[in-house]
Amino acid sequence: MIDKLFSLLQKPALWQRSGELFWDDEHISKGMLEAHLNPDWDAASRNHSYIDRSVKWLESIIPKGSKILDLGCGPGLYAMRLSNAGYDVTGIDYSGRSIAYAKEHDTKSKYIYQNYLEMNYNEEFDAITLIYCDYAALIPDERKTLLSKVYRALKPNGLFIFDVFTEQTLKDRCDRTYWSYNENGGFWSDKPHLCLEAEYYYENNTVKVNKTVVVTGNDVREYLIWDSVFTKDTLLNEVTPYGLKMHSIYDDVCGSKYTGKADTLCLVLKKV
Ligand SMILES: C[S@@+](CC[C@H](N)C(=O)[O-])C[C@H]1O[C@@H](n2cnc3c(N)ncnc32)[C@H](O)[C@@H]1O
Repeated sequence: MIDKLFSLLQKPALWQRSGELFWDDEHISKGMLEAHLNPDWDAASRNHSYIDRSVKWLESIIPKGSKILDLGCGPGLYAMRLSNAGYDVTGIDYSGRSIAYAKEHDTKSKYIYQNYLEMNYNEEFDAITLIYCDYAALIPDERKTLLSKVYRALKPNGLFIFDVFTEQTLKDRCDRTYWSYNENGGFWSDKPHLCLEAEYYYENNTVKVNKTVVVTGNDVREYLIWDSVFTKDTLLNEVTPYGLKMHSIYDDVCGSKYTGKADTLCLVLKKV
């Protein structure tokens, strides 16, 4: 046990994946759904008045009646609003709990329980959205897969709209570790558990991993959640080889004017 713990507490290799379920874990997905649905939190989803503003902005750039694919749709907070605004919406998510909630509460949209890296559409959508900086949670090979699948799924002139965190969020970045004992269970497990958490940084602080080791009785689980930051240039260099060209750029997914000084940036790419 102590050897396993010791090896789990090491700084992981860049882009290592742990294999543990996170979004689709039976217990963790309960807490996540609660976070999505809390109208005031900026946790699994942004707060709901932000989402209202974001959807209004999306309505201003996507023609009414368009076919939209929402990747990582969660419990359908965007999809439902977009369907109600007159779009033909499909949402994909690999949290079974979120998809079940979405299907129950929104019968207008189509919801699919799937890893979006495994989707196979061909020129079906006028617009594809990936909202709340999920692009940056993917590792580079997954981003390449996503970009080719998005390109193929879009109709000619279709739009890909997504946001990422910027280097403005780099302030105060340094490796750190902390632990907690959760006697009555908590976010990571419903059983009493020890949580060993660490934040590690790579590549001049532009890549971060949140590592959590959860010890419950004899069970030890490791979760690795990656996050990258981008500038307009690093992002455009990465996406343009896939046939997606810049259509417009904003500070956020509410369409705020681009300054390059915000915590996020939102790119609208067009399939050419
Ligand atoms: C940060 S949440 C954002 C949810 C939603 N876009 C919103 O802003 O309300 C990320 C969502 O993406 C989903 N997700 C992450 N990676 C995924 C993948 N590879 N395939 C499908 N869904 C994924 C998670 O289950 C989760 O619901």
